[in-house]
Amino acid sequence: MAATDSAATATARREALKQVLAQARACTRCPELAATRNTVVFGSGNADAELMFVGEAPGATEDERGVPFVGRAGKLLDQLLGEIDLTREAVFVANVLQCRPPGNRDPLPIEIDNCHEYLLRKVELIEPTVICTLGNFSTKLLRGDPTGITRLHGQPEVLTLGSRAVRLYPIFHPAAALYTPRMLETLREDFARLPELLALGAPPQPPPGALDDPPPALELDDPAAAAALEIAPEVEDSPSPASAAEDDAPAPAPDQLGLF
Ligand code: URA
Repeated sequence: MAATDSAATATARREALKQVLAQARACTRCPELAATRNTVVFGSGNADAELMFVGEAPGATEDERGVPFVGRAGKLLDQLLGEIDLTREAVFVANVLQCRPPGNRDPLPIEIDNCHEYLLRKVELIEPTVICTLGNFSTKLLRGDPTGITRLHGQPEVLTLGSRAVRLYPIFHPAAALYTPRMLETLREDFARLPELLALGAPPQPPPGALDDPPPALELDDPAAAAALEIAPEVEDSPSPASAAEDDAPAPAPDQLGLF
């Protein structure tokens, strides 16, 4: 699968995403994360989404269920989406890391680097117009700059990620707003600007072949990835009953990844 492939139809996009998912499920680039994770949290939502959110890394609930943002921060995300008449089914939600860092520690630079290619593939396949980075980790990664979220939140900019030009829109991480009413108010104000940003449509795209250094393609020809692809449908529909009892978030969407 070439990194510059353009998945023209929703079905093609979805199928290509499933291939990347299979690769992610077999991924052992971060030995500690691969050894300690319960699931790879690939991302969920609409494969044709105009709006993509990128958080930090799965927490315990996400690691159990294989779906991002299903804990308390996720409920706040759902609520804020509802306030601008959007649902999780309309957007795509992913993270900088696909595996839970043990003890919810911060992602390590090497882990962020290892997982970056997966994120770029998702962006290339989903082709979102707006990418909303939630908090510092995703904002710093996708901007390639250490400027923090406190300075940048609420300020959209056009960036090229892989082969796609997108409108990047950094906002505070919902987890940070859970306990700080003022931050929640700021997050809500920044969220309220999303519809007008989406209405601008996609920024002009770089001409094909304009990239000096396109991201390398993820290889599908290693046996572990191929095996994961074969077993993917069975793994997809099995959220842990224990975690479902712990937290009453809605059941994962149609094919577990919530790929609509
Ligand atoms: N859940 C996620 O999936 N990502 C975060 O960044 C926080 C909670």
